[in-house]
Formats: sequence, structure tokens, C-alpha cells
Amino acid sequence: MIPSRMLLKWMHMLLLAGLAVLCSSLDNGLARTPPMGWLTWTRFSCNTECSLDPDFCISEKLIMQMADRMAEDGYKDAGYEYVCLDDCWLATERDIFHRLQPDRKRFPHGMKYLADYVHSKGLKLGIYEDFGTKTCAGFPGSEFYMELDAQTFAEWGIDLLKFDTCHSDPRDNKYGYPAMSLYLNKTARPILFSCEWPYGEIQLNASLQTDYGTIRQNCNVWRNFWDVTDNFNSIKNIVNFYGKNNVLFQKYSAPGGFFDPDQLLVGGFGMSHYQQRAQMAMWAMFSAPLIMSNDLRDIPDEAKQLLLNKYILSVDQDPLGAMATKVWEFSGLQLWVKPIVPQGSLAIVFFNTNNFGSGTPIVSAASDIGMTDPKGYQVTEVFKGTDMGTFMPDTKLNIRVFPDDAYMMICKILS
Ligand SMILES: *[C@@H]1O[C@H](CO)[C@@H](O)[C@H](O)[C@H]1NC(C)=O
Ligand SMILES: *[C@@H]1O[C@H](CO)[C@@H](O)[C@H](O)[C@H]1NC(C)=O
Repeated sequence: MIPSRMLLKWMHMLLLAGLAVLCSSLDNGLARTPPMGWLTWTRFSCNTECSLDPDFCISEKLIMQMADRMAEDGYKDAGYEYVCLDDCWLATERDIFHRLQPDRKRFPHGMKYLADYVHSKGLKLGIYEDFGTKTCAGFPGSEFYMELDAQTFAEWGIDLLKFDTCHSDPRDNKYGYPAMSLYLNKTARPILFSCEWPYGEIQLNASLQTDYGTIRQNCNVWRNFWDVTDNFNSIKNIVNFYGKNNVLFQKYSAPGGFFDPDQLLVGGFGMSHYQQRAQMAMWAMFSAPLIMSNDLRDIPDEAKQLLLNKYILSVDQDPLGAMATKVWEFSGLQLWVKPIVPQGSLAIVFFNTNNFGSGTPIVSAASDIGMTDPKGYQVTEVFKGTDMGTFMPDTKLNIRVFPDDAYMMICKILS
């Protein structure tokens, strides 16, 4: 059932992936591995109604509570570091000196205080602005004020800036994002720069040629597709977009700069546990930022265990920072392979886009899915952490990939 004629093509691509660092990254010392953290957007969106809905609105209280949970419940120790605001933290106007200011009712102590609090927990604070005249939700944008805003963020002690692209002409992104990148650099504070530059370009015109080399020189992570939503069709659309552009994207994923397929929705309402673990597996294969959007004060135990799964996290945080190769797709089942350390080792994911039946059986030789080295491999199934034993190239693999799910293995080369 494995279309083996595709193997040669695949071995060539894997070789390329291993050699991927073709162009330099933004030189701010950050994102040597994909950033991990938490963001307000999908779970808390633009809820500004703190008088009616005090526990679920965008406020300093929400950020401080999430920082507490991240620090105390094991997320920080697992590598989750950035606690991030998305849109809707701002007041409706700049102050009399044209500086940005938070909504005073919802952030009564100001942003410096909030950053100090987050830092006191050993975590970092992320903030959101927009390259255009307004943010997506209509708050003051950074256009004409980028230098001042970069200075303001640095003074507050901000560690990450997500820079959106609403209310601007996406054709200007190639001027605006490098300018902001330069202004951030001039503050002398290392601020991780999360760009929506290529996303703006697909909104304008799907055929616009995105220059990922230049983006990589100016941004640490970059969103290049529509927002993720809390359902598996959204995940499949994103995975298919990454599959379609696989060869191009592989050239630009490496320490310092990573593709951002958007938030991790593990612990949300819309997806089954199987769908959530398939998302997490694929994000790890992409070397994607793992930025959760969920409620850490109230999270199912199964979801928490998944978020803290040390095997999946090790694949995401692998020091090569490679983008997995899509080896083949066959009847809705996809095979993805990612090189990891030590050299010759692999992470392998079967991603099943079918949502009917009782799953797809895979019976094949280990060499047919990438384990070709005669030294052999120590193989671990990732979700349960099961040791599957030693595989030689001719060892038979016999597994089943459930519908709307993934099957993930780490194959460490034997020496
Ligand atoms: C600014 O850019 C220079 C040159 O690329 C780099 O050496 C320096 O670390 C950067 N500083 C910050 C704060 O990003
Ligand atoms: C989309 O991009 C193509 C190629 O760059 C260009 O010829 C075309 O005019 C653009 N269309 C729009 C609506 O901007």
C-alpha cells in the first residue's frame, strides 16, 4: 500500500531538509528553537467587558492568572515561556505624547507593572500591535509611530511583539516590517518579532510572490496563512497548505526563524482529543511555535498531559529546527518525516485526514517509511511513550492510524 516509487524523491528531499540553513536569520539571539507560550486570541478574543465578565475579559488579571498557572503547573518547566496579549489591550486613543497606553480600567497598574510581574515568575511578556493605522479590532495602530512604539515596548519590558497587518496595504509590508524590525533592534532590548507579513500578502493576492528570505532576515516567526479556528478542518487546511509548499518552506526553517501555523488549540472546545494530538504532532513536525490559546485555569487533564508530552516537545524543540518533509499522501493518509538529532535520527508522523471508518492499517518495512540506515533505530511511540523496540530496515511495522488522528514515532539512530 506504500507507493514506493516516491521513495527516491523523498530521500532526496530529506537530504535537502538536513542542509536547509540557506539564509541568515534576524540577528537578535532569539528563537534558537521555536518559541513556546500562551496567547489570548482564540480563547479570549476581544472580550473587553470586564464589568460583566470579569474572569474572561482581556485584562491584567487574566495575564497574571495565566502566568501563575504557567509557572506553577509545569508548563514553564516544560519550556512554555511567553505569556502573550493579542488585540484589545489598548486604550482607544494614544496619550498626549502620542504614546500607546493600555485601557486603564482593565490594566490599572500599567504595562511595566505587568511585565515585572510576569518576569518575577521567570516568564516573558508578549504584546500585540499592528502595522496599519488601526489594529484589526480598531484600536490605535503603529503606522507613523513605529519608532516611538518600539521604544515604548522596550521601556515597559516587553519580550515579544506580534505585529499584525490589518488596516494597511499589504504591498507596504516589505517596507513596514523591516522598519519595525530595525526600530526594535535600536531599542537594544531583545524583543522576539512575530510577523504577519506573509499572511498580509496572501490576503491581498494568493499569487503574490512572498520573499521568505527577506522575511527571515527581519522576523523570528511569521504567520503565512489564515487564522486557525477550533475545529479539525482548519487544522487540515493548514497542514495541506504546508504540504503544498513543502519544498519552498523547508529552505527557510532553521534556528532564528520559523514558520508560524498559528495557535495550538489543545485544551479547547472544538476538537476531540485525537484531533488535538494530531495538531500537536504536526506543529512539532513543522518546528512551529507552540503558542497555546486555552484556559490554563480549567483544562482537561488529558489536554494538559499532551501539552507537557516530553517526546512531542523534544521533536518541536529539536536543535536542527527543520521543517518536516511530506513524503507522500495516499487515500487521505499523509506521511511526514523530520530529521532530528543525533544525526540520522527521524521523527515520523502518519497524519490521517479521513474522518470515517476504524482507521488505516500500516503494514510495511521500516525502510519504506524512512528507517533505511543498517545501524538500526530505537523507536518510541510518542503519545503514550511506548518503547516499540529496535527496528532494522527490514523490520515490519504494524500499526493503525485512527481517523482524524496521527501516529507519531521518534526513531533514534543506534550507534
Ligand atoms: C541589533 O542588530 C545587530 C546587528 O545585526 C546585532 O548584533 C544586535 O545583537 C541586535 N540587537 C538587538 C537588541 O536585537
Ligand atoms: C495578483 O498578482 C499578480 C502577479 O503578481 C498580478 O498580475 C495581479 O494583477 C494581482 N491581482 C490583484 C487583484 O492585485
